[in-house]
Amino acid sequence: MDDLIYLDNGATSFPKPESVYAFMDKFYRNKGVSPGRSGYDLSIETGNLIEDARKSLTQYFNGKDPNRLIFSYNSTDALNLAINGLLKPGDHVITTQAEHNAVLRPLYHQSIYNEVQVDYIPLDKKGFVDPQDVISAFKPNTQLVVVNHGSNVIGTIQPVKEIGQICKKRGVTFLVDASQTAGKLSIDIEELNIDIIAFTGHKSLLGPTGIGGLYVKENVEIKHTRAGGTGVKSAQQHHLDEYPYRLEYGTLNTVGIAGLYAGLSWVLDKGIDTIHQHEMALTRKMLDGLNQIDNVITYCAEDLTDHIGVLSFNIKGFEAVNTGTILDGDYDIAVRTGLQCAPLVHKFLGTDKISGTVRIGFGPFNTHDHVDKAIEAIAEIALSYV
Ligand SMILES: Cc1ncc(COP(=O)(O)O)c(C=O)c1O
Repeated sequence: MDDLIYLDNGATSFPKPESVYAFMDKFYRNKGVSPGRSGYDLSIETGNLIEDARKSLTQYFNGKDPNRLIFSYNSTDALNLAINGLLKPGDHVITTQAEHNAVLRPLYHQSIYNEVQVDYIPLDKKGFVDPQDVISAFKPNTQLVVVNHGSNVIGTIQPVKEIGQICKKRGVTFLVDASQTAGKLSIDIEELNIDIIAFTGHKSLLGPTGIGGLYVKENVEIKHTRAGGTGVKSAQQHHLDEYPYRLEYGTLNTVGIAGLYAGLSWVLDKGIDTIHQHEMALTRKMLDGLNQIDNVITYCAEDLTDHIGVLSFNIKGFEAVNTGTILDGDYDIAVRTGLQCAPLVHKFLGTDKISGTVRIGFGPFNTHDHVDKAIEAIAEIALSYV
């Protein structure tokens, strides 16, 4: 394990900072009780940690009200809460080819079970959505626009500010999937004109799995699609309308929230720009190295403007899964292969027919040495197996 070169941070970040492990351990040993609900000191202290985490994430997204920062299991769960709680039969939704199944599948379900109409904006040849195409796609019944902030396949950052401006002008709700970008980029929902942002805790926010959430701006209301205990107003039959209870159900993942809180603190201490620059320097070096190897093809990475540290490639004539297996078995290098839960991106790339791509996702603990070793390994595979 010590020798493992982990390049699958697009799936989940690994390892986590030591401070995250230590904070979670200490928190759960000392404060692992039900938060806030029972009225004794320890329960209140646990509740306070959750409120601190809400405040910290709200501040990171430049939200105004920490109660509108709600916790869910992950961004898939958060996106389901938002999509299913916003749409009604007959609505129209605009989304993009860049989306993950966490958006595509809830929307598909809405289309078949709830008569919601969905349009998918294509990507241009560099992997970006053209905001003009969003304008052209509006219909009188457009209720929601959902856009992926940073692609988990090709790393492109979509022009969410421009798209948000367009939505704002039309009074249409704008939901952004920031699963890949939260913790990698500074995200100011005011500046970017975002109404709802979905995030996951276990990627670049450096927390554990099982925690994510939404920030829901004051101008938007999401219907309840679940109901249950909230720990307050227990005599009321209907699930609570007020945030955060409106979108939280049952006992929260307190240890996950503690880890997420510690992860975000680590990221902010290091500096988001510093981390991003480091990851982009590695991405640049990786791309330059891959471009030197005959038979290697990279996707949407001619230049790395408006990119995060996520890169897809293939060795020509060789299935992505085989490259991944050899990288793991012979070189102890972990990457992600296949469609990465984003089938429309692969349709756009034409890689849907060749079992997808090999994806490299950089994290803050990757080094230049990792890149050198990965390039060397890929060059050897490209030479000896093709
Ligand atoms: C762009 C994007 N959206 C959504 C998700 C779903 O994240 P989670 O599995 O944490 O719900 C991912 C994870 O791969 C992603 O990359």
